[in-house]
Order: sequence, then structure tokens, then C-alpha cells
Amino acid sequence: MQRLGVLTSGGDCSGMNAAIRGVVRAGLSLDIEVIGFYKGYFGLLNSLHEPLTTRSVSGKLQLGGTFLQSARCREMYQPEGQLQAVENLRRLGIEGLVVIGGDGSHRGAMAIHEQGIPVVAIPASIDNDIPFTDMSLGVDTALNNIIRAVDCLKDTASSHDRTFVVETMGRNCGYLALVAAIACGAEYALIPENPYNLDEICTHLRTRFQEGRDNSIIMVAEGIGSAQEIADQIKDRIGFETRIMVLGHYQRGGSPSTFDRLLAARFGVAAVDALVTGSNGSMLGLSCGKLVLTDLEQVIAAGRRPIDQNLMSLAMTLGF
Ligand code: F6P
Repeated sequence: MQRLGVLTSGGDCSGMNAAIRGVVRAGLSLDIEVIGFYKGYFGLLNSLHEPLTTRSVSGKLQLGGTFLQSARCREMYQPEGQLQAVENLRRLGIEGLVVIGGDGSHRGAMAIHEQGIPVVAIPASIDNDIPFTDMSLGVDTALNNIIRAVDCLKDTASSHDRTFVVETMGRNCGYLALVAAIACGAEYALIPENPYNLDEICTHLRTRFQEGRDNSIIMVAEGIGSAQEIADQIKDRIGFETRIMVLGHYQRGGSPSTFDRLLAARFGVAAVDALVTGSNGSMLGLSCGKLVLTDLEQVIAAGRRPIDQNLMSLAMTLGF
């Protein structure tokens, strides 16, 4: 193999830069030229690319986001876009492609693989909704961001006997809200995977304050509703002063945690190794601490990663 490509696609997350660095350094160490595509599949379709060197990735690994930038590219969902992408890769003499992104990006990767160009995907999305990996890139950093914010919130909430409803991202997956609730000692995590009863929650909140508790935190995954809606419903039921915090895109940024930096380095190097040793149409994943490859077809067919039942029972044992 003489030339490979790399791109970041879909929602950005911390650790993408470190993963690109891993791909570039691993490629160059094997005398393989690495072409970086800017703005994900959009850049692949519109010839936004350049060779990446060790200088290109120098000073980047500690930065959040992705210096190659990212995009959600509608054309890649269409057969014409997919054919164009493959044609462009062939014209550039690219013999393998590393796609760093989430489920939408994996569909694009699968289409390219089906047209005969070897592809290895790296799971990257703060949602942790990608199956066949215990952790996706960016999840740990996002959780650290959330936890930092909620810890601050608790200081002010407890100074005013307030209830706060905190909305996390995660699309239709409750992982971020659930894990953050456990890690922050929140009272509740309202997530799409588990039905909740707001009347019971409100009764409990009232009891807490009657017992002298000076704050209550309710984590809400965006996939189940907005913090504002839940806060309004709580206020209507029990009249408590209820404030909200919508964490939004703040969760996706920031310097990657050590966990994400290490995972990114492992994923990046392993992706090149996989392409060089003939893997094709697969996604890297972390399983019980080890890197594994799974066919993209299987990953896509599996849909969303289910919530870990051990985490659910941990949360219940802890009292929410
Ligand atoms: O998939 C990652 C994610 O951050 C989701 O948690 C969120 O729902 C979505 O992307 C936001 O997308 P955008 O950045 O396009 O607003």
C-alpha cells in the first residue's frame, strides 16, 4: 500500500485530532503517504484534500474538535454521491480509507467498501450509541465536561434550595445522562431507554426538600424531551423553583481526556495496521480493553447500541 486517506465525518468529538495523528504517524512509519480530506465526505466529493505530514499533526493531539473539520454530507446517502466518492479515491490512487465518525459516517464507509475500496472505520461520537465497541471516541471527554458543569451547578443549587434539570446530548441514547447522573450523584436520569413517572419523581423531590436536602439534580437525555419541558412540568406539579441547564455543544469540545487520547492513538494505529494486513469493510472497537474488528455490515445491521443493563441496575441500587 502506497497511499491511504483519512477523514472525520458527522458530529465532531474530542480525540479526533489524536486519531488522525495516529493514522498519519502509523502510515508514514510504513512509508505510506496519507491524504487528509477536509470537511468529511464533502471534501472527498469536492477535492478538498492534501497530504498530511508529521508537521500537519504536530501540536494537535491535545486539541478538541478536528483540524480536518467535519460535516454531515447528504450526497453520500445517494448512490451518485457514493460513486463519485469512489471515483475520486481511485483517481487519487488511494488504496485504503480511514473514516473517523459515527453511524451516518459508517454508512458512507460501507458504500465505499462495497465499491471495492478498502475501508476501516473508527467509532467516534459522544453519544456512545455505536454497537460493537464498549466506548466510542469522545465519550469520556464529553462525560468529563458534563460532570465538571454539574459539579459547579450543585454549588449554586444548594445555596438556593433549587432543583436543576440538566439536559445532555446523546440523540436517542441515554448513556451520557445515565453515566453522568451516577458520577455526579444526581437524583434522577430520565432517558429514552427507561420509562419514568413524573408524579413519583415530584413526590420524591418534595420529600427531599422537606427532609432538608438543599438541592436536587435531574439529568435529562435530549432524546426524551427538553429540560425546559420537564422543568415546567415539575413547577406545575409542586411549585418548586426549578432552573435548567442545557449543555448543548459544550459537551463535544475541549481537550481530550487521557482515556480518549490513548484510545485515539490505539484506534489510529490499528486502523492503518488493519488496512495494511488486508482488513476491509470493518470497524474498530474496544471490547474488554482489547481492540477488535467487526464487519461494518454487522455494525450497521445492529443499529443503536443498547444501554448497558449493569449501569441501569447500578443507578437503581444507588437510588434513582
Ligand atoms: O451525534 C452527536 C451529537 O452531538 C448528538 O448528541 C446531537 O444530538 C447531535 O450530534 C447534534 O448535531 P449537530 O451538531 O448537527 O447540531
